[in-house]
Amino acid sequence: MIDSLPGTAPEATVPWRSRHLFDVDQLTRDEIAGCLDLAAEMRSLRDRGERLDVLHGRALGLAFAEASTRTRVSFEMAAAALGAQVVELPIPASSVGKGESLADTLRTLERTGIETVVLRHPSAGAPYLAARSCGMRIVNAGDGTHAHPTQALLDALTMRDALGGLDGRAIAIVGDIGHSRVARSNIHLLTALGASVRLAGPPAWLRGFNRWPGVTVTTNLERALAGADAVMALRVQRERDAGSGVPSLAEYSRRWGLDDERMDLAGPDVPLLHPGPTNEGVELTAALAAGSRSLIGRQVQNGLAVRMAVLALLAR
Ligand code: CP
Repeated sequence: MIDSLPGTAPEATVPWRSRHLFDVDQLTRDEIAGCLDLAAEMRSLRDRGERLDVLHGRALGLAFAEASTRTRVSFEMAAAALGAQVVELPIPASSVGKGESLADTLRTLERTGIETVVLRHPSAGAPYLAARSCGMRIVNAGDGTHAHPTQALLDALTMRDALGGLDGRAIAIVGDIGHSRVARSNIHLLTALGASVRLAGPPAWLRGFNRWPGVTVTTNLERALAGADAVMALRVQRERDAGSGVPSLAEYSRRWGLDDERMDLAGPDVPLLHPGPTNEGVELTAALAAGSRSLIGRQVQNGLAVRMAVLALLAR
């Protein structure tokens, strides 16, 4: 059993300055690299069957006010793998449903001895409000259209594994950029690691993004894909009124949907990522999602390792 952080990689010992994880833009390049190195190391240790009880005796709350499969389950698995006790609090089933405020709900969790809360919320900025309302550490598991930091970290680990590094790489992100917290966190993180980002999709979903340093914006899918080192497809977020930005899903799929033929514009071996959940037949074909270039399953597996690293780094 290992009860302290593995530190064979020097970067793995880079401490985080913050008690909270709101978004990746709060992290330095060294802190990001240290987190990815630690995640890779934790992944190896787990693969070897070694236990990592660095959170033994700690309690973690999972407060989710929006649907989730990957993020919720992988945080629960990550906390358990580190020896923490996990308390699930689906917000719709909590006393919020009786009118209690989120702030009072968080203070109630804190009084029971929970030290860290993983929060998913439909309102952008909810994690910042949460951190001001209680003394617990807050980990943002997705807030509205604002940020999804652990998704960006697991995407970066997956791309780093596939490409050998991100410095100087060109990453194409295709689809519903405007409603995507995944896109925003990925833009911060990829450019911080030296990659350039190409955004492609319908004009209504690209507004404002041309002002980001290191980012190019185009409605021309072919131009975004040509010579890209990796391609990320995004889900059309109908729950956030994304349908109003395109004439129809069929038209979106016809002009910006990804398949193997379009991926060939990037190159025969260029990897395909998608944060999930996917709408097969809309933003990508089922054959592409299940094919040899798809890293979608690998992203889910890396989500566990990255969330273990994040929880361990924040607990120090
Ligand atoms: N990518 C992602 O956040 O998936 P879930 O909504 O299933 O957690």
